[in-house]
Amino acid sequence: MESILDFLSNITWWMWIIIALAIVAIRDIIQNKHTISHNFPIVGHFRYMLESIGPELRQYLVANNREELPFNRIERGWVYASSKNENNYEGFGTDRDIYAHQHIFINNAMLPYKLEDNHPNKKDKHFLPCAKVMGEYNKRKRPYRPASVINVSAMSFGSLSAKAVESLNKGVKLAGAYHNTGEGGLSPYHKNGGDVVFHFGTGYFGVRDDDGNFSMEKLKQLVKENPFVRAIEVKLSQGAKPGKGGVLPGSKITKEISEIRHVPMGEDVLSPPNHSAFNTIPELVEFVEAIAQETGLPVGIKAAIGKLEQWEELADYMKANNKGPDFITVDGGEGGTGAAPPSFADHVSLPWVYGFGDLYKLFKDKGLTERIVFIGSGKLGFPAKAAMAFAMGADCINVAREAMMSIGCIQAQVCHTNRCPAGVATQNKWLQRGINVPLKSERLAQYFNTFKKELLEITHAAGYEHPCQFKMTDVEVNVDDHNLSKELDRTYNYNKVEVPFNGVQALKDCMHLGGKA
Ligand SMILES: Cc1cc2nc3c(=O)[nH]c(=O)nc-3n(C[C@H](O)[C@H](O)[C@H](O)COP(=O)(O)O)c2cc1C
Repeated sequence: MESILDFLSNITWWMWIIIALAIVAIRDIIQNKHTISHNFPIVGHFRYMLESIGPELRQYLVANNREELPFNRIERGWVYASSKNENNYEGFGTDRDIYAHQHIFINNAMLPYKLEDNHPNKKDKHFLPCAKVMGEYNKRKRPYRPASVINVSAMSFGSLSAKAVESLNKGVKLAGAYHNTGEGGLSPYHKNGGDVVFHFGTGYFGVRDDDGNFSMEKLKQLVKENPFVRAIEVKLSQGAKPGKGGVLPGSKITKEISEIRHVPMGEDVLSPPNHSAFNTIPELVEFVEAIAQETGLPVGIKAAIGKLEQWEELADYMKANNKGPDFITVDGGEGGTGAAPPSFADHVSLPWVYGFGDLYKLFKDKGLTERIVFIGSGKLGFPAKAAMAFAMGADCINVAREAMMSIGCIQAQVCHTNRCPAGVATQNKWLQRGINVPLKSERLAQYFNTFKKELLEITHAAGYEHPCQFKMTDVEVNVDDHNLSKELDRTYNYNKVEVPFNGVQALKDCMHLGGKA
């Protein structure tokens, strides 16, 4: 024994390194799972290491300012600086190729809109409520005028951490916006004072019976117990994975998640592609009406757009029967998700401008736009993009990933692994530790406020008081040379219906502002 210890103590550090490398080399040669390390023992590992840190290397060192997707460095930097109330200006002029295809230009007025001394925006530069009231046309018991045109899009507790959800909810309270729950039910973290839009999909999480079917009784109870729930959104599909259900693995179902979602512990839970509560378009409308009747709240639907036949059927049914959803959220194919197969995320459903344009035009042709609040989501969390969306007919913007970035997301793109380094999209308690909720909620509110202020400044530069006044002819999109650059109306072949608007003061005096009445 002593001679072995003697022998080991005589091995120098560099000999230990050689022994370790020899063991790795032998293991590489014996294994047959990884061809590269089998064929190139030891050095093959560098390939795997470099591959795994490739995104970070590109993000920090290699990619130029405008290169990355989904959000490039300039876009991320703008959200980060806005949320920290830092200088978010750029010096020396734009670094964008403003002649590039699809670049948009907003036509400014010769003389900008002038704010009188008694104008609500003179005192409050962030006051920017929605110009339409959800549920007003259909005479719902509790109509709702969102007090902010920018709001937090559907992201569940489960896909996001408890601390992230709490930060978002406290943040929307500070910014006067609403917080969409996403599919995971209403958690305690959604109950921190912000307005809430309760959202559910085919899994009916939080409002399901023991067999996984929709329970009206549970929804009624939820609305009764939580008066801050202002509207209900039925998800038909989302841009990143339309027509695709999901599996919540039994291993991820904690006691808390099981109670919030009303799902059993330890078993995989399926959310199928289809709803079990309705099968046809008339049944969908009657479902929406029944929820509105029972809860008194405005009810909307969320979808990504592809084929239009069923939408046409919906519009015809709404017109013939004088009922239907109070709002429609259109998600773009570029939308984000906690997890989706790339084949879906990359290829199924239309990008926002195409999908929204098709849908709005269809509802316009049927004379239905005035009764619907149109909400857009899909990388619209930037003032100029939002101005374009308003010109096309959107009344509100929902933001998901931009909101995540404002509370610390670094676009690591690992939401599906439970290893989010920023603690935003993970259930790992250790990773969540770094989230300082009061600070992050301030940051979301600051991002929203900066966004609204800049959107208003663009609106005033175009000669208007409120972004609802933007017309298709106010925005041009580059299709090539200037002679070929076309206004939105000539590009997408429709004109937006004018939104009835009697000044921001009238919005401020509205009894439904923020669901007050
Ligand atoms: C982490 C995460 C979770 C999401 N969860 C849902 C969801 O539960 N239901 C839904 O309809 N959309 C969900 N979405 C989609 C967003 O609500 C939004 O429609 C989409 O990301 C486009 O907005 P964005 O470009 O501002 O991110 C999720 C997105 C992300 C990033």
